[in-house]
Amino acid sequence: MSSSSLGAAWENPLRDPRDRRLPRIAGPSGLVIFGVTGDLSRKKLMPAVYDLANRGLLPPGFSLVGFARRDWEDQDFAQVVHDAVREHSRTPFREEVWQQLAEGMRFVPGDFDDDTAFKQLKNAVEELDASRGTGGNFAFYLSVPPKFFPKVVEQLKKHGLAKGPEGSWRRGVIEKPFGHDLDSARELNAVVHDVFEPDQVFRIDHYLGKETVQNILALRFANTMFEPIWNRSFVDHVQITMAEDIGIGGRAGYYDGIGAARDVIQNHLLQLMALTAMEEPASFDADALLTEKLKVLKAVKVPDDLGRHTVRGQYAGAWQGGERVRGYLEEDGIDAASTTDTYAAVKLNVDNRRWAGVPFYLRTGKRLGRRVTEIAVVFQRAPHSPFDSTATEELGQNAIVIRVQPDEGITVRFGSKVPGTSMEIRDVTMDFAYGESFTESSPEAYERLILDVLLGDANLFPRHQEVEESWKILDPIEEYWARHGRPAQYSSGSWGPEEADEMLARDGRSWRRP
Ligand code: BG6
Repeated sequence: MSSSSLGAAWENPLRDPRDRRLPRIAGPSGLVIFGVTGDLSRKKLMPAVYDLANRGLLPPGFSLVGFARRDWEDQDFAQVVHDAVREHSRTPFREEVWQQLAEGMRFVPGDFDDDTAFKQLKNAVEELDASRGTGGNFAFYLSVPPKFFPKVVEQLKKHGLAKGPEGSWRRGVIEKPFGHDLDSARELNAVVHDVFEPDQVFRIDHYLGKETVQNILALRFANTMFEPIWNRSFVDHVQITMAEDIGIGGRAGYYDGIGAARDVIQNHLLQLMALTAMEEPASFDADALLTEKLKVLKAVKVPDDLGRHTVRGQYAGAWQGGERVRGYLEEDGIDAASTTDTYAAVKLNVDNRRWAGVPFYLRTGKRLGRRVTEIAVVFQRAPHSPFDSTATEELGQNAIVIRVQPDEGITVRFGSKVPGTSMEIRDVTMDFAYGESFTESSPEAYERLILDVLLGDANLFPRHQEVEESWKILDPIEEYWARHGRPAQYSSGSWGPEEADEMLARDGRSWRRP
């Protein structure tokens, strides 16, 4: 098959012919991945590249370069990508798509401080420009621990890779964590900005690549019926939950000392909060979104009494389904005295006209009851009820729940009369499910984000100002925790430590059990 017959969307049999929107297809380009042997690369990045190619969204000459400390040839790397794609890609395997992609795969063995390896990388990039028509356009994806960021970007600069030939683009893609506190984030940003201009840097927060997260903006700003009640006059509080049933798996090296709050509250949950709380942006472009998200993050107020309004926990071992599940301190590679949080709950206020007095409760944890991420906007009770109190005994508060994952969709909870001769009102739900309303399937977050990088579309990437503001919110909480004892224990499979329930009970509220 000739190269021009692949990659073009209008020829792609997978494309839905009813979709009349112009496809966003990347122009001539390539992707270099550092840390290509890691889990993220195998499970997410390589499959996402294949899925994009399979959907006809990559140019025919698209090229993929792996860089790692392995004694591999190009074909060994291609085999690794092949296995990752067969195991993890979302779309069906098609030999002709694979062949086309595999022809553009190169591998560069070496350490990050190895000048020879970076010279080889430069040669590989130039060779691909000549043989595959990548046009000098390359994105460098740093899927490596943050301690290596400075070295890698410095090497890219030193070897003339951060800047391509006239008319071409070079972009740096950085995976979180963006530092471990405000100071380290600032240092990191300084190092990155020494090499790349701000608009060349793409920070990945993969939650922003999720369809349901982008839908927060559609729900709020493409409709008329939600926005009038989306404020302190109607909303009682907001609960943002990201619960996982898995433990830390083989990630002890990354996770210990970092913990749940730094791992996901600083980024994913504060981004969800910003999108939920922000004002309507002037447009859907990166600067307008940044302006509004930043206003929310700057208005966030951390409560004074952190002992009462935050909780951190650590999972203890438990028997689940006849099997003993290890506690955090028993996991491989974890120091038996570790005080790392695997659960974190915080109450935040947004001090502005729209949200004054409305608490935002954020919680996350590993080894909880089930995997679920949701944003619940919980409304105030009716100011007056014409029904006698027995009629509404079982009535909860109205809520709009954005189900980020799984069972992607939106639930509206409200009271309804129970059929029968007496007046009794109980909660019912009205559900929108992506799976039922749309025939199109949702791309993986990484497909969307990699495509956006190649297109230079920065809307869904946090800027350094947001990263720094988010650390300003978390730093005092982490400092408080560091000075105050150990995390509370909770059983694996539960909904977190009792202290978290007590934290909400003190405010006269309770956590949802999604
Ligand atoms: C990552 C965290 O950012 O998100 C992990 O580092 C977490 O600890 C993961 O497991 C969850 O992502 P998702 O998309 O499965 O909710």
